[in-house]
Amino acid sequence: MGWWTDRVVPRMVERALRGEEVGHYRAKVCAGLHGTVVELGFGSGLNIAHYPRGVERVLAIEPSDTGWELSSERRTASPIPIERCGLDAQHLGFDDGSVDVVLSTFTLCTIPDPGAAVAEVRRVLRHGGTFHFLEHGLSPEPRVAAWQSVMSPVNTALAGGCHLDRRIDRLMTDGGLLLENLDAGYLALSAPRSQRYGFVGRAAKAD
Ligand SMILES: C[S@@+](CC[C@H](N)C(=O)[O-])C[C@H]1O[C@@H](n2cnc3c(N)ncnc32)[C@H](O)[C@@H]1O
Repeated sequence: MGWWTDRVVPRMVERALRGEEVGHYRAKVCAGLHGTVVELGFGSGLNIAHYPRGVERVLAIEPSDTGWELSSERRTASPIPIERCGLDAQHLGFDDGSVDVVLSTFTLCTIPDPGAAVAEVRRVLRHGGTFHFLEHGLSPEPRVAAWQSVMSPVNTALAGGCHLDRRIDRLMTDGGLLLENLDAGYLALSAPRSQRYGFVGRAAKAD
C-alpha cells in the first residue's frame, strides 16, 4: 500500500463519510446486527456509534494502519470489544460457516477483487447468516453510468482504489448470496450523482 493510499486517503475518507447525512444510512444498515459481527474495511470506525445493543463483539478487517489508528478513540469509548482480525477481505481467516453477520460500508468499491470478497463472505457465513451492506456503485441511468466509467480510473487513482462503476447487487447474486432486501437509488448526500448511487440492503447465504 503506497503512502498516499495508506496515510492520506483514510483521512480524506474520515472527513467525507463522518457526517450526519451518511450517519442516517449507517444507522439503517447497522439495524439488526447482533452477536459477533465481522466488519470488512473497518476504516476509522464510523459505524461504531450505530452498532445496536445486540452486538457482542466486532472482528475488524482493515488493511490501513492509519485507518485503524484513526478509529482508536472510538474503539476505546465503545463498550463493545473490537479486534483487528485481518487485513484483507479477499482472504478471511475464519472457518467455513462460523460467522453470524458480516457488515460492509463503502468498501466493496475499493477491494481489488470484490467477487473474491463476496465469495469469502459466503464461505464464512453460517447457514441463515446475513451480510449487511451500504455501498455505492453503478447507476442504471445511461448518462450517469457513462460518466462513471470515464471517471472511475481517475477516482481509483486518487481515492485509494475506489471504483465508481461496480454493480453491487450483481456482485451479491453472482457470489451466490440471496438478496433479502435492497434499496437502490441515489443516496441523499452532498456529492455528485456519479458518486452516490447507493445499494443498501441485506443478503443471505442462499443454501
Ligand atoms: C471508503 S473506505 C470506507 C471505510 C469505512 N467502511 C466507512 O464506512 O467509513 C474503504 C475501506 O476499505 C478498506 N479496504 C481496502 N482494501 C481492502 C481489502 N482488500 N480488504 C478489506 N478492506 C479493504 C480501506 O482501507 C478503507 O478503510
